[in-house]
Amino acid sequence: MSMRKVLSILAASAMAVSLLAGCGSTASAPAAAPAAEEKKEEAPAEEAAPAEEAAEEAAEAAGGDLADKKVGVCIYQFSDNFMTLFRNELQSYLVSQGFAEGNINIVDGANDQATQTNQIQNFITEGVDVLIINPVNSSSAATITDMVHDAGIPLVYINREPDADEEARWADNDWDVTYVGCDARQSGTMQGEIIADLGLDAIDFNGNGAIDYIMIKGDPENIDAQYRTEFSIKALEDAGLKVEKLDEQVGMWQQEQGQSLVANSLAAHPETEVVFCNNDAMALGALQAIQAAGRKVGEDIYLVGVDALTEACEDVLAGTMTGTVFNDHISQSHSAADAAINYITGAGNEHYIGCDYVKVTADNAQDILDSLK
Ligand code: BGC
Repeated sequence: MSMRKVLSILAASAMAVSLLAGCGSTASAPAAAPAAEEKKEEAPAEEAAPAEEAAEEAAEAAGGDLADKKVGVCIYQFSDNFMTLFRNELQSYLVSQGFAEGNINIVDGANDQATQTNQIQNFITEGVDVLIINPVNSSSAATITDMVHDAGIPLVYINREPDADEEARWADNDWDVTYVGCDARQSGTMQGEIIADLGLDAIDFNGNGAIDYIMIKGDPENIDAQYRTEFSIKALEDAGLKVEKLDEQVGMWQQEQGQSLVANSLAAHPETEVVFCNNDAMALGALQAIQAAGRKVGEDIYLVGVDALTEACEDVLAGTMTGTVFNDHISQSHSAADAAINYITGAGNEHYIGCDYVKVTADNAQDILDSLK
């Protein structure tokens, strides 16, 4: 499917969602994420097409030279479902843009920063033309940036956003370093809104006037985990709802951990009304635990995740998940590749390239599934 088709389908579903939510535009949806808005001014979703065109033009101007260019890609962990979708799309898009398959080297950091740092060192020694890095630890970004920049190699960070001080350094020094990703505050806000939109009466099974919830977090070092945890609950409070946290556990983004943690939590807190998971993998595990406990999503409990994995969208359609949030791996991987091309050709990039999340409920889950085919 062409990028433009994906964008137009997403724009249509985002519009449908914002109409349902009573918002005028996607940009106004994450009201609780001010920095997302500021950042998005630099690169809103609507500008993705021109950026893509610029990369295409730049690639053409390079006279097909991309076939000789070497790209090193470091992924924090291959077994992560979301990053698997991301890297497969990145690989095929890089090839479609003219890179030779043999010149695209994607390596597995095995969730170990020392391993990944070695891999980066090897790419530097090999003399790759550009690096695309999904850091194991975002807090290692300054060290990684220094290594890569000192070697004169442009760098595109993906998925795990370095902190504001680190990003400011790239702009202050005018280095060829950028970050491509979404603002996790927006995804947390959307998760909370999906629940808030149900209304207190539908959620408050025990009639205590509060939303009794458990939270299953991803890697706490990761800003996505921190913001989704914070902003999902903030959205409930902003909607005037009272909340009661029954449990908060770290599931490291993994399905098995989501399953065992939620099984324990539900046994200890049968009064749980909502299970928030920072991603769909953990939500799929949570669903197994919910079903094993004889509970029914939509009838005596609610469940939300993030990513819009195919299986999660199918659960949303079947009513076995309340909702999820589309983490657009297609747009993000294409933007990352476009940014890499822009560095190779000398066109350059902004230091932050954003992307919008999309709220997914039973109303638009099919559209999202169709757009992913
Ligand atoms: C995704 C998670 C994934 C994580 C990896 C997040 O943006 O939602 O599914 O595990 O990135 O860093």
